[in-house]
Amino acid sequence: MRILFVCLGNICRSPTAEGVLRHRLQQAGLEGQVEVASAGTGGWHAGEPPDKRTQRAALRRGYDLSQQRAQQVRAQDFERYDLILAMDNSNLRDLKALQPAKGKAELDLFLRRYKGVKHEVPDPYYDGEQGFEEVLDLIEAACDGLVIELKGRV
Ligand code: 4NP
Repeated sequence: MRILFVCLGNICRSPTAEGVLRHRLQQAGLEGQVEVASAGTGGWHAGEPPDKRTQRAALRRGYDLSQQRAQQVRAQDFERYDLILAMDNSNLRDLKALQPAKGKAELDLFLRRYKGVKHEVPDPYYDGEQGFEEVLDLIEAACDGLVIELKGRV
């Protein structure tokens, strides 16, 4: 089972989701069965580690994102991944435009699938510290839902 998280720059939200889900999978003993990655619809930050503010906020909760490097999502990712989860509606629209007619990946909005109240993870890039905390709160809650689904699937 392969999961790809997608945001705009792949330096704030989707790397956070990748780090949180990896951690949750280890806790659940599922790390060998689920592959997790992240990418951005834009390629401006390709090759860069996550934003320093993102890394600091994540590390305060025990998630080390320092080894991650940004990459841009590609049409081939729809063949490689089983589930592609977008952080906001704009990411979802961009992904639909890229989606090949016969890609195997299921495409969804991350929070709509796992939480229900708030449907988008807001872009924290131009926000203060609190924005990064909210990203973590939303992603942690949604990852709990995702792990429950994965336990029944793998
Ligand atoms: P992300 O945040 O999509 O959560 O990684 C952003 C990172 C960079 C930019 C925008 C959003 N940017 O415009 O460079």
